[in-house]
Amino acid sequence: MRNVTEDNLTDTFLSYFGDDTDPRLKEIMDSLARHLHAFAKETKLTHKEWQKGLDILRSAGAITTPERDEFVLLSDVMGLSSLVDMVNSSEDGTSSSVLGPFHISNPPAMDMGADLRGDYDGELILVSGSVLDTNGKPIEGATLDIWQTAPNGLYSSQDPEQDKYSFHAIFTTGKNGSYWFTTVRPVSYTVPTDGPVGEILNATGRHPWRPSHLHYIIKADGYRDLVTEVFPDDDPYLDEDTVFGVRSDLVMSYVKQQADSFPTSGYALSGKVAEEYSRVDFDLVLTRDVSA
Ligand code: BEZ
Ligand code: FE
Repeated sequence: MRNVTEDNLTDTFLSYFGDDTDPRLKEIMDSLARHLHAFAKETKLTHKEWQKGLDILRSAGAITTPERDEFVLLSDVMGLSSLVDMVNSSEDGTSSSVLGPFHISNPPAMDMGADLRGDYDGELILVSGSVLDTNGKPIEGATLDIWQTAPNGLYSSQDPEQDKYSFHAIFTTGKNGSYWFTTVRPVSYTVPTDGPVGEILNATGRHPWRPSHLHYIIKADGYRDLVTEVFPDDDPYLDEDTVFGVRSDLVMSYVKQQADSFPTSGYALSGKVAEEYSRVDFDLVLTRDVSA
């Protein structure tokens, strides 16, 4: 096209694709270009504003390391990570939710009933539930990879004071599909604000808080992997998660219990609990992997 105009640029862009371009790549690039071009036209984007956008991307690249990915965080606070989750979520299982940047590979395998709190201060919680299929049948041999913040609101990868794997564990379900362990109650925390994402949040009058949560990745043969998190119903940020991760089926309750009701067997802390604790029961429903 020799005379490219505001009106024909998008079609011109699409006409430049080679004939053997992968059809899915073509579909994605086609849609991306149409939306980007419409965005620039609709907002009458100025050169200065466009330069600012590029600066943000440059700063995201500069601050990104293997341990801290600012592009993922940008996608999270823009709601894109959650939207990708939603469009790929199964309809009948437990909802998925954002992975976040703080998961560590190869967490230690632990026996059911293990205690993740150790010597940390903070409210003791007992977490239990079952991994089920969509007919309510327990799934044996499902792995639950679980991680959370310490009581200071930091994940172990953010905090040199913590052991590498503190508050990370992997459990495998037995015949009845159930899981159980104790830990400390996670706290609400802020996403990192020392990079360009912090600048965007600040400029748009947004806070950086996430409601407290426990992260899960659940895998079982023949089922779709489930990446999700569960949130307590009394968290002040439940309705304003800065990364849009909350779904109503992921909200649970902590139920206060007296010390003497703590199970007398089956837990590392059985026979050792002399304080009130809270109990959470949360079942996770996996859907069949039809692509397998
Ligand atoms: C998290 O839940 O760990 C998380 C998710 C998105 C951005 C930052 C943290
Ligand atoms: Fe988190």
